[in-house]
Amino acid sequence: MSKTIIISNRLPLQIKLEDNEINVSPSVGGLATGMKSVHEEGDSLWIGWSGLAEEDLNDETREKVQKEIEKNKCAMVPLTENEVDHFYYGFSNKTLWPLFHYFMEYTTFENENWECYKEVNKKFADVVLEHAEDGDTIWVHDYQLLLLPGYIKEKKPDTSIGFFLHIPFPSFEVFRTFPWREEVLRGMLGSDLIGFHTYDYERHFLSSARRLLHLDTNFNEISYDDRIIKIDSFPMGIDFKKFYNAALNHENEELEKSDIQKRLDEHLHSSDDCKLILSIDRLDYTKGIPNRIKAFEYFLEKYPEYQQKVRLVMLAVPSRSNVPQYQLLKRETDELVGRINGKFSTVSWTPIWYFYRSLPFENLIDLYTSCDVAMITPVRDGMNLVAKEYVATRVHQDGVLVLSEMAGAAKEMNEALLINPNNFEGIAQTLKQALEMPKEEQKTRISLMQERLERYSVEKWAEEFFTALNSTKQVRNTLVSKKLNNNLTTKILEQYSTAKKRLVFLDYDGTLVGFKNNPLDASPDEELYNLLDTLYAQPNTDVVIISGRDKETFTKWYGDKPYTMITEHGVWLKEKDSDWSALENVKKDWMPKLRPILETFVDRTPGTFIEEKNFSLAWHFRKVDPELANLRSVELKTVLNSLIANHHLSVLEGNKVIEIKSGNVNKGRAASRMLVRDDYDFVFAIGDDWTDEYMFRDLPETAVTVKVGLQKTSAKYFVQNTQEVRTLLKKFTEAEILEVQTNS
Ligand code: ADP
Ligand code: G6P
Repeated sequence: MSKTIIISNRLPLQIKLEDNEINVSPSVGGLATGMKSVHEEGDSLWIGWSGLAEEDLNDETREKVQKEIEKNKCAMVPLTENEVDHFYYGFSNKTLWPLFHYFMEYTTFENENWECYKEVNKKFADVVLEHAEDGDTIWVHDYQLLLLPGYIKEKKPDTSIGFFLHIPFPSFEVFRTFPWREEVLRGMLGSDLIGFHTYDYERHFLSSARRLLHLDTNFNEISYDDRIIKIDSFPMGIDFKKFYNAALNHENEELEKSDIQKRLDEHLHSSDDCKLILSIDRLDYTKGIPNRIKAFEYFLEKYPEYQQKVRLVMLAVPSRSNVPQYQLLKRETDELVGRINGKFSTVSWTPIWYFYRSLPFENLIDLYTSCDVAMITPVRDGMNLVAKEYVATRVHQDGVLVLSEMAGAAKEMNEALLINPNNFEGIAQTLKQALEMPKEEQKTRISLMQERLERYSVEKWAEEFFTALNSTKQVRNTLVSKKLNNNLTTKILEQYSTAKKRLVFLDYDGTLVGFKNNPLDASPDEELYNLLDTLYAQPNTDVVIISGRDKETFTKWYGDKPYTMITEHGVWLKEKDSDWSALENVKKDWMPKLRPILETFVDRTPGTFIEEKNFSLAWHFRKVDPELANLRSVELKTVLNSLIANHHLSVLEGNKVIEIKSGNVNKGRAASRMLVRDDYDFVFAIGDDWTDEYMFRDLPETAVTVKVGLQKTSAKYFVQNTQEVRTLLKKFTEAEILEVQTNS
């Protein structure tokens, strides 16, 4: 039976060594806690690192670790001390983590760490390949394994690979500073589906893929190699029932209270208006811990009536303590807590209760259920599950969530009180609002958030991800069936050889030659001349170059050649030994009127230019930033469409060009005119562009139509690039033509 393979650096269980004995506890962090429920449900294997370096283990402890891992449906990727240093602390947590969270001043770029990152990603790939069977679904997680999808796809191209990034994907302006940006993007693009927590991260990724790899994107799909990769956002949920039920259970009077709970109760019962404010996070500089403490200090100063009444309960879980920035943060936090407690404490009250340790689940529930306000103030956070967990435990629909707008969770939790973590004034006022919020309002806000959290739980999140991943399989299957593989090519060649009369339509730019920034640079090369000459010389074969270009350019390039040519999408025709003749009766009196409009677009969009043909005006935007180009082209189309009504003009969108033409001239009409000239029994058309679609649609069902590139098409088949076009045409020229048939 096929299974799901979950791969992340951190396994859901954290293993520590104590006197040759192993000590197992659940891992902290959003990824491990969230995916745990997904893993427990279905048939799945979780591959990751145990948390221990190989050098720390002897034969006996290794075996124990191994057993523990297998017992939990996991498999291990062993890491050496050196790898833990360079891959985990080094590249993952000194480069990617700070960079992706916009902490550029903390980001280091060390080549040695990068080399090790690649090696360890390969090591993960080896373990995955050892376990992966046909039909398995592979789900790779997070920033430690950005290259892994690429490595797996290389070896097992038919497996379905999903990737989910649990942290933000930064804006292009930040990502472009990263020295290995192309490699990392390509690694991620080994997946069939790439998921992010929010649409912002998704659009940042798409923008980087477009700008750095110059890939074509179609809404949220990227064409890459011979695949279409889907990019989407899936805001991760929590195991709502687990937290809700744990909180219900917590109310059971018969259960013995934990020490922490007893102390929390003491504070709460000390007077009627005593309140607790909670914060829980890994001790990480992205979590805005110093800001939060300082804002709390400001609050106590600004609203002294709250002194001796409210307490901040702050749980910071130790994390990545080998990285210097985390050590500095620990020191800063200790000092701040010390200073503020020193400044405000009385005999019976300390403003901040600070725990620096990992607590068991039951204690987390004590904290969540006892605190009146949760104050979650990250300066940058992919999602933040703690915010969701707090809301889920509020079984009486009371409590207030104060949440940083920099957390991915803020996008969905509109009923929280949203704050900017750098605005102390705003935080102080919001805290006051939270502490004074009427119960009715608390209820309205909490219940709306709970409804959503219950509906979009972590199971639902995983289910939606899998559904999207499965649908990429269907797209892949359609593409596979359309791809011009060897078998299909052989069949087409057979039809070609045995036909009595052949008609071949060839688009020019993007089909016979690659795209150039300047259209004049796309002149034919020697190889192309030879190819066309040979094809043209085939008996009973009519070859037509059909292009949007103007006739002057083609006259320059092919004036002394006998080829049949159609230019300007079907306005002009030239055949052997004759001059250009008009295929369509078209007008050009509209051109001086519309040209100034295009000129305003050129002025406002640097890098674009106008091409004036005999009967059309084209606005080219190949050299422009893709996002600006997209924006402007939508704008131009809107303007043009409102102007051309009743003028017998049409607006065509080609590959990075918008063209206004007289009448409904198009390649489909032109091709149909050629078709009726003879009794063709083999018709072939190839093109890369939207304007070629007219041809694909208008030619008879029996025609062999081929699209260059992976865009949506009505063509029957596709090839990937101009090189493949030439290879295919070369096969035509080498085909054995059965002339006997034509003479009979
Ligand atoms: P991050 O992923 O950056 O650590 P999140 O808030 O998304 O931040 O996730 C933190 C997760 O770690 C939550 O699911 C929370 O319940 C869990 N967690 C936090 N503290 C502890 C702890 N002391 N023991 C166990 N789990 C914890
Ligand atoms: C965040 C990351 C996870 C990571 C977790 C804990 O949630 O997205 O990938 O596992 O923090 O960090 P650690 O370095 O201890 O694995």
